[in-house]
Amino acid sequence: MKLHIYSAFPKNPINLIIPLAKNDGLSENLAAIAERFHIPKTLLEDDFSAKAKTIQSIYSCKYNAKIFLLGLGKEPTFSTILQAFRKLSHQLGERLSANIGIDFLGSNLESSPNEVEAAINGLLLGSYDNGFYKTADTSSHPLTKETACVDIFIAGNASNILMAAKRGQAAAETQMSIMNLVDAPGNKATPEVLANWAVNSGKKYGYTVKVLDKAAIEEAGLHALLAVNRGSEYPPTFIIMEYKSAKEGEKRPSIGLVGKGVTFDTGGLSIKSSNNMHFMKSDMGGAAAVFGAMELTAKLQLPVHLVGIVPSTDNCVDGTSIKPGDVINSFSGKTIEVIDTDAEGRLILADGLNYMSRHFDTDVMLDLATLTGSCVRTFGYQAGGLMTNDDKLSTDLIASGEQTGERLWRLPLWDEYKKDIESDVADVRNFSGRPVGGAISAAKFLEVFTEDHAHWAHLDIAGVAFGSNGFSKMRSATGYGVRLLSHFIEHFRADE
Ligand code: BES
Ligand code: ZN
Ligand code: ZN
Repeated sequence: MKLHIYSAFPKNPINLIIPLAKNDGLSENLAAIAERFHIPKTLLEDDFSAKAKTIQSIYSCKYNAKIFLLGLGKEPTFSTILQAFRKLSHQLGERLSANIGIDFLGSNLESSPNEVEAAINGLLLGSYDNGFYKTADTSSHPLTKETACVDIFIAGNASNILMAAKRGQAAAETQMSIMNLVDAPGNKATPEVLANWAVNSGKKYGYTVKVLDKAAIEEAGLHALLAVNRGSEYPPTFIIMEYKSAKEGEKRPSIGLVGKGVTFDTGGLSIKSSNNMHFMKSDMGGAAAVFGAMELTAKLQLPVHLVGIVPSTDNCVDGTSIKPGDVINSFSGKTIEVIDTDAEGRLILADGLNYMSRHFDTDVMLDLATLTGSCVRTFGYQAGGLMTNDDKLSTDLIASGEQTGERLWRLPLWDEYKKDIESDVADVRNFSGRPVGGAISAAKFLEVFTEDHAHWAHLDIAGVAFGSNGFSKMRSATGYGVRLLSHFIEHFRADE
């Protein structure tokens, strides 16, 4: 998709979107729009109040053009602008043409680079279609056409605006690529497919990817990952990605990201009920967020050293599956009593986190995982759970979440919760056996494997990676994490 910036009103508007906030200046803007396009001002004022995510189509005889007024509500944020543009783009679909104009000159926004980034990001995300296995020719969004072109009409520094628009586009393309993985079912997005995604992305955007196959995983001693994989038809993969900015000289801060890559979670022998089991194709949402952050960081050439680790397997049922009560080994050497085979994410993350701690001494270490139903029951679909002992890290992550609309909310990690994972027979057990405080005791379990990393945070994204977002009939991928992580990475400064 091409992007153009213009500093004057379009001479021949065809498909023009005018974003409008609900503020005091609105009626003046509407009057100007009415005059410009020769339409009755009072009717326009009657029908359009700029309520967030409302769309008013108007047709101009003068230009033979379609104009869409897009409501953004009061004091629109990055997230409201993004969501409104996404809704417009999704809803209008084919009614948009491959040449779209966004008119900030006729708008009452500040016309900042940030707003432009949000608009382009949303416009493109609106073209996302998860019907990738449909055999009939499905209608395609005009923005997916090769000739697609977005013209931005705006005052101000054109090169800053173009850069912001390109960032919006770069983010959206990465987000849609990982949404594809999350939406893909367990028989399509296998551990090997995840690894191939990373290899291809690394080649394209310039970061290294090393994939450990089953033999290498055995050799390395990633026993907890192997234990979860025992019931599977597909071999596991352990994906290690590393991006170092080309910038010479000053030391770059280093960030380690570990993502849960369970390509399908049946629960194993502690099997899940079947009513919602199909949604467990999304149990690699943490891995997807890590992939997306790696790719976008490399695309934007952020001045950091970023390491990503994704342990991947599905969690299936077979004669060889691990059984409740089994004691397994782990990469760290600590033994684990498996009380519930459905608490598999924490097992593979134990190996991922411990590998990250021992092989890469990063300034900060984050893990992202669709880890617990408990977190979904606590926050619904509105926020991910954040658990860390580092107050500054917590503040920074929550702030990045607010900025990007990918929210986080903190839960405690007090040592009183340690009791929940004490085992009689092994070093630790993977479940308390009681249906209370589940998100926290899962984090306490992970903590055991972090080698006491002082700047570790766990993000439980079970409720936010996959949701009913109005863009599909069933729940689908949200792309959660890519923007949050890239914002965090961009603003991260290591302690002196
Ligand atoms: N993948 C699930 C968590 C999950 C639940 C993700 C709902 C998305 C939506 C995880 O592996 C799991 O099954 N967790 C169990 C743990 C329990 C057995 C200790 C849970 O939360 O019920
Ligand atoms: Zn599970
Ligand atoms: Zn799971």
